[in-house]
Amino acid sequence: MAAADTSVSSPGASEVEALLPADLIDFLGCATPQAWIDWALANPELLLIDHAQCEKKAASTAMSLLYRYVSEPLLLTKMSQLAREELLHFEQVVKLMEARGIAYRHLSASRYAEGLRRHVRPQEPDRLVDILIIGAFIEARSCERFARLIPHLDEELAKFYRSLVKSEGRHYEDYLMLAQHLAPSPIEDRVAFFAERERDLIVTPDTDFRFHSGVPA
Ligand SMILES: [Fe+2]
Ligand SMILES: [Fe+2]
Repeated sequence: MAAADTSVSSPGASEVEALLPADLIDFLGCATPQAWIDWALANPELLLIDHAQCEKKAASTAMSLLYRYVSEPLLLTKMSQLAREELLHFEQVVKLMEARGIAYRHLSASRYAEGLRRHVRPQEPDRLVDILIIGAFIEARSCERFARLIPHLDEELAKFYRSLVKSEGRHYEDYLMLAQHLAPSPIEDRVAFFAERERDLIVTPDTDFRFHSGVPA
């Protein structure tokens, strides 16, 4: 990855605000701390390798929903589209890594997704609703982090991340819409519950740098 953009003519903050929809900002319980942004900029190779892993995992999550919930046509359509898009993102990250001489390797998963999934209720339809709400949080946080990184990146990566802000923002909307559509009752309390859990994972100290990690310990 090329060096961070040090241009003083680009304040960055206004671009971030323009990229992120207000409802997505409201949905998330907090903004990504500056300490994480600094951590990411100090680990440009890990950022891309873990980003690739996240895209692959996002496709795999969508595929597993396709297999498990075969009687929900809207979910099947949305998850099929999402899995294809995430795999396309995966290919794009891997190509960019290759061009930059970054070797793809396996990384252990961060605590983030498991830290959310451990709260999934076991009975249906609660289980599906919780998984969809968690999907909305993962997509919204990814979207927010891409946007906040953009002002600090070289033009090639910034351009790529601008395109991802749009698609991950759409994925957040799809997951939230599906949760509302498939839940037997309003989901506000459950969204508030997961917003708290998600916020904890973002603002508390974490051991390893990853795309969805907390702040440096
Ligand atoms: Fe993606
Ligand atoms: Fe996504």
